[in-house]
Amino acid sequence: MNFPKDFLWGGATAANQFEGGYNEGGKLDSTADHYILGSRKAPRLFTEKIDKAKYSYPSHSASDFYHHYKEDIALMAEMGFKLFRMSINWSRIYPHGDDKVPNPCGIEFYRNVFIELKKYNIEPLVTISHNEMPFHLAKTYDGWLNRKTIQFYLNFCQTIFSEYKGLVKYWLTFNEINCLTQKGTGYFSAGIYSVSNKDLGSGVIENISERNARIQHDDLVKQYQALHHQFIASAKAVKLAHTIDQNYQVGCMIGGICQYPYTCRPEDMLLIQKERRNSLYYCADIQVKGKYPSYSKRFFKENNISIQILEGDEEILKEGTVDFFSMSYYSTGCVTTEKNENLALGNLAFGISNPHLKTSQWGWQIDPNGLRYFLNEIYDRYQLPIMVVENGLGQVDVLEADHTIHDDYRIDYMRQHIKAMSEAIQDGVDLIGYTAWGCIDLVAASTGEMKKRYGMIYVDVDDYGKGSFKRYKKDSFYWYTSVIKSNGNILE
Ligand code: BG6
Repeated sequence: MNFPKDFLWGGATAANQFEGGYNEGGKLDSTADHYILGSRKAPRLFTEKIDKAKYSYPSHSASDFYHHYKEDIALMAEMGFKLFRMSINWSRIYPHGDDKVPNPCGIEFYRNVFIELKKYNIEPLVTISHNEMPFHLAKTYDGWLNRKTIQFYLNFCQTIFSEYKGLVKYWLTFNEINCLTQKGTGYFSAGIYSVSNKDLGSGVIENISERNARIQHDDLVKQYQALHHQFIASAKAVKLAHTIDQNYQVGCMIGGICQYPYTCRPEDMLLIQKERRNSLYYCADIQVKGKYPSYSKRFFKENNISIQILEGDEEILKEGTVDFFSMSYYSTGCVTTEKNENLALGNLAFGISNPHLKTSQWGWQIDPNGLRYFLNEIYDRYQLPIMVVENGLGQVDVLEADHTIHDDYRIDYMRQHIKAMSEAIQDGVDLIGYTAWGCIDLVAASTGEMKKRYGMIYVDVDDYGKGSFKRYKKDSFYWYTSVIKSNGNILE
């Protein structure tokens, strides 16, 4: 294996799926706190009022990292982690989002987490906004649709960049920013309260077309406007980070919407080019190259999208390009101009299924070669260091009577993907880090289920937030420990 000797091995989480501690220490509701439990068949519905008597809200207790962080970090250290990806819950630092002063208790919590990580020489990789924002900003300002939100975000950045100087080096401005190019993600990714559909519907298999029909064209326009505001916020945050600490490295985080043409028809080649640009490259081009890509004009025209870009915005984008590229990668799908309704499932839209691939228990197609292929594509295009900051297998695990968990399926998935990364490195890709998703079990974003487990550490809690919250090491825990110890050589 060819991993560089300082390769950043680790794991990844997100506050709203991992932290729990709902409304503790002065935190108020985030947008994510209003999603109830769903399933592979049923969408996660949004409720305006929290009604615990009727519904289960997975983010409220999640894996309770809020009260277990010391124990969790010690376990990560035991595995040999060099990097831990986590996010800061914005509503813990600025409970309303537009507060004049930050919440000291929230600042203290993350400081303690970073100090604990430092104790073990684990570098934090902090996502500033991972699919949540203070609920008040959504309700009162319509989230990212409102340009004022840029300033609220920058106040938040100013606070965390100054408070955690010396404790953090790597930041990501927005999780899977390109999620907003997909239909029906306005509230989930940008807190746009006025969109017609706030369900997180990716779990619904049969009803995708019905659900899309409920989403109005206006919503898509709102999403692209919100996205523009996020680009401006991200660019300004990059600049701000560098003024506060020259050592700060700020990256983009792009959801790996990786698709193939289903046939070799020339029409399918044109379609894949268009789809890849719109769903994968569009955001990355802006964040890495600092300007709207030439193809965006035609896309906006054909889709009847017009957004407000103010004078000076072009300059801001140019001055705030990111230092490194990061992406999630779970699966691939296909697109075709032919009639084909075999949908492929995934965390994002993947088009139709590929007959050459097997699927996970949740219907996601497993494709390690796709990871090698896309890493090469991305490196060729951007020439920036890359981190794979999410990758893993969501599966039901069995906790045996003796508290062991035999997850050879997860080991197999990870081994294949780590091998694919090693191949990409040999191809010449400057891959600098890998954080396995949900290294300690956490709530699934698309379904809200706890039973869809990704971890190498089992958390004893069910879909309804009931359990002891005790942590148990899975077989993959020991396997990943050896992978890190040998810097990937154990895979040979
Ligand atoms: C990514 C998100 O899209 O996919 C994560 O950034 C999410 O937040 C992950 O958890 C896996 O999806 P799911 O629905 O299985 O949790």
